[in-house]
Amino acid sequence: MACLLLKEQRTAGELYAACRTGDLSRLRHQERVDAATSRHSTLINFQQGNNSVIELAASILASDFAHLADEVAAAERGGATILHVDIMDGHFVPNITFGPPMVQALRPITTLPLDCHMMVENPDAFIADFAEAGADLMSVHQEVCRHLHRTLQQIVHHGMLPGVVINPATPVDTLIEVLPMLHYVLVMSVNPGFGGQKFLPLALDKIAHLTELREEMGLNFRIEVDGGVAHDTVAQVVEAGADMLVAGSAIFSPGKTEQNAREFLDLARAASPVQI
Ligand code: DX5
Ligand code: ZN
Repeated sequence: MACLLLKEQRTAGELYAACRTGDLSRLRHQERVDAATSRHSTLINFQQGNNSVIELAASILASDFAHLADEVAAAERGGATILHVDIMDGHFVPNITFGPPMVQALRPITTLPLDCHMMVENPDAFIADFAEAGADLMSVHQEVCRHLHRTLQQIVHHGMLPGVVINPATPVDTLIEVLPMLHYVLVMSVNPGFGGQKFLPLALDKIAHLTELREEMGLNFRIEVDGGVAHDTVAQVVEAGADMLVAGSAIFSPGKTEQNAREFLDLARAASPVQI
């Protein structure tokens, strides 16, 4: 039934009408949020505006793909609360990774929310397919979205929680108008495309700026950070205000994934201004 609904909603006429009228199928969105909420408390935190809970979004890009299910299970045992799935198209970034079939393969093997980071030139073309495959959160790059507001509407329309990503060279203030629509902002702390790069400290001021804006505007979006976040850099990003921490190469390592995740989270929680 859900798949049928999505297929029906994908018709151009209906999407156009939904954009024009602003009727974004709130009911269907709520249904998906409820389903995702029952999978994991991360999405309860979103709904309650609790910005203080530290989330580890383990980036499968760094995992051993030949043993993906085992890698995911180990990350989850170590305390990962989200799976971060990097979607790269070879155009927006100089690398190619996964499509909707990867999300579809992950969906039955984990209860964690699936966070799709869309490093593609035309994310609008893939929103429906990723939603149907089982994605829970979707972030799109500010740099590629000509009609960012409409793209975010479409992500919501398809029942996912919307986020926007900004590259290191993109200012936070380009997002002010859409902040009230967002469940999360993703601050890149490397140039996107590859795992294992060195953390760029310029991300810290951007995270702090977003933290201030959130307070000033009375909003409750979460702040995610991605790239070079590891055991030696995690305290700084948490102190600046990040609460969704993407980490790939710091987490996935044969035989050590669970321990890496646990130690990473201990360091993150120790740096958090709110102790829970
Ligand atoms: C990079 C990706 C990241 C990547 C992070 O473009 O968006 O999610 O997996 O990898 P690490 O944690 O190794 O920097
Ligand atoms: Zn990513």
